[in-house]
Amino acid sequence: MATLDRIAHVVAERHSGRICVTASVDAMHFLAPAGRGENLIYKASINKAWRSSMEIGVKVLAEDAHTMDRTHILSAYFTFVALGENDKPTSVPEVSPKTKIQKRRYKEAELRRKYRLQIAEEKKKLRLEDAD
Ligand SMILES: CC(C)(COP(=O)(O)OP(=O)(O)OC[C@H]1O[C@@H](n2cnc3c(N)ncnc32)[C@H](O)[C@@H]1OP(=O)(O)O)[C@@H](O)C(=O)NCCC(=O)NCCS
Repeated sequence: MATLDRIAHVVAERHSGRICVTASVDAMHFLAPAGRGENLIYKASINKAWRSSMEIGVKVLAEDAHTMDRTHILSAYFTFVALGENDKPTSVPEVSPKTKIQKRRYKEAELRRKYRLQIAEEKKKLRLEDAD
């Protein structure tokens, strides 16, 4: 997870040109195990940017060293927030999806954002109830 976070971090900082922090990680799917002797290939993309936050998807493939066959073993979605001079969230450039895959990721990212912000809001309410 630390490796995935570091890779996603680089993508977020390259896109925004800012210092970024991880706000959340969601939907980490372990799809298959990596076999002994397989090489791991990491692929990362920025799916969508909002005002100060960005969703970065990271995909891990395991490649057989002999046959070169690749298996998709893991996908994860990270949200990073760009910080300005005062360490407060600051605006980032938009993402303009061009290819069919980029457009699909862009739409899916919006659905995931709604879900993750809803969860964060619900948790906040529960914590406030606990404090009463
Ligand atoms: C992430 C953080 C900067 C957000 O600060 P905040 O004061 O809540 O700021 P805001 O409410 O203005 O939200 C800023 C953005 O973060 C997003 N955000 C906040 N909490 C989030 C969460 N749990 N999941 C996803 N996005 C989140 C908001 O949607 C908003 O995005 P937008 O500007 O694109 O609309 C702050 O919570 C923080 O510093 N967290 C600790 C980060 C950290 O230490 N990470 C680990 C080490 S890198």
